[in-house]
Amino acid sequence: MRVVVTGAAGFIGSHVVDALSGAGHEVLAVDAPSRSLAPDVARRTWAEVAARPGVVAADVDLAVDELDIVTGVDLVVHLAGRPGVRDSWGPGRAVAERDNVTATRRLLAACMEARRRPKVLVASSSSVYGSAGRRPNREDDSVKPESPYAVSKVEVERLGRLAADDGLRVVLLRYFSVYGPRQRPDMAFHRFVEAALDGRPLPVFGDGLRSRSFTHVRDVVTATLAAAAEDLPPGITINVGHREHVAVRDAIAMLTGALGVQAEIQRETPVAGDAARTWADTRLAHKLLGWVPAVGLRDGLHDQIAWHRALRTMEEVRVG
Ligand SMILES: NC(=O)c1ccc[n+]([C@@H]2O[C@H](COP(=O)([O-])OP(=O)(O)OC[C@H]3O[C@@H](n4cnc5c(N)ncnc54)[C@H](O)[C@@H]3O)[C@@H](O)[C@H]2O)c1
Repeated sequence: MRVVVTGAAGFIGSHVVDALSGAGHEVLAVDAPSRSLAPDVARRTWAEVAARPGVVAADVDLAVDELDIVTGVDLVVHLAGRPGVRDSWGPGRAVAERDNVTATRRLLAACMEARRRPKVLVASSSSVYGSAGRRPNREDDSVKPESPYAVSKVEVERLGRLAADDGLRVVLLRYFSVYGPRQRPDMAFHRFVEAALDGRPLPVFGDGLRSRSFTHVRDVVTATLAAAAEDLPPGITINVGHREHVAVRDAIAMLTGALGVQAEIQRETPVAGDAARTWADTRLAHKLLGWVPAVGLRDGLHDQIAWHRALRTMEEVRVG
């Protein structure tokens, strides 16, 4: 298969490229690393991704550049964008509008115009639900976006459904708090592990009682590739999240246990629009994709910690 992966220098995108390359597909790995929340990290990941077999890297800003990347392509996995609830307040709002909404609109238009239209998987987010109540969120629940980021993802989904109404095979994947190797530096576990390894207090927004359907990136890749392979109704939305939600403070206890440290907590002001609870109903993903999350939080955290340690060792070797 010929596949375009956008956001290929990012956390999730780089893992999707690894999996596609490993399965022998031809991949055009698209990104504009200067648009990343962490450009230096994206450039490093970009170099790793571009070295994989069958992968060609293309530096394309989806919001402004000519989009001749989708010609002759079977599948587009659209993961590029500006993630993060916190960042989307203030100046980040315009960035989310540009790199989520404008970029997606242009990419979908390019796919519609292609002589052979590719199938398109589009990354959305659990944040469109707002906070979950007493049961997990189902795909047909009404959306309650509570931040500019979440609003941008609601709009991304709307654009996807409009394109599907016009015959494009679009699938919308709502990812839930993804973690694992290469997790973004602004995300909770990344910040916690780095702080613990430095011997600093762990910076926690709020009281630690917020809970998340933490989902390992390996499970996210499996679900994404299953969505690529299955013949799905155009415009469908599917939750990709762990079926259990875990409080941040319980996740911290697991994390510090795995690290073998007793870390202090430094409480920081809660972020506006950060849901009290995210909780994925995974029945649709199971029914349509045969997917159930396979990585438990304890194992997944070990995996992420091992990556942070390996990165530090590599850095020491480089500097020393
Ligand atoms: N990580 C999560 O927990 C999570 C949860 C829900 C949804 N998502 C969504 O999944 C996608 C990937 O998330 P991630 O965590 O890997 O983020 P990431 O920031 O690591 O990756 C996004 C990549 O998109 C690129 N990009 C941004 N704007 C671009 C543009 N205009 N043109 C080309 N490239 C551009 C960035 O350079 C970056 O490398 C995003 O759409 C995000 O909103 C992520």
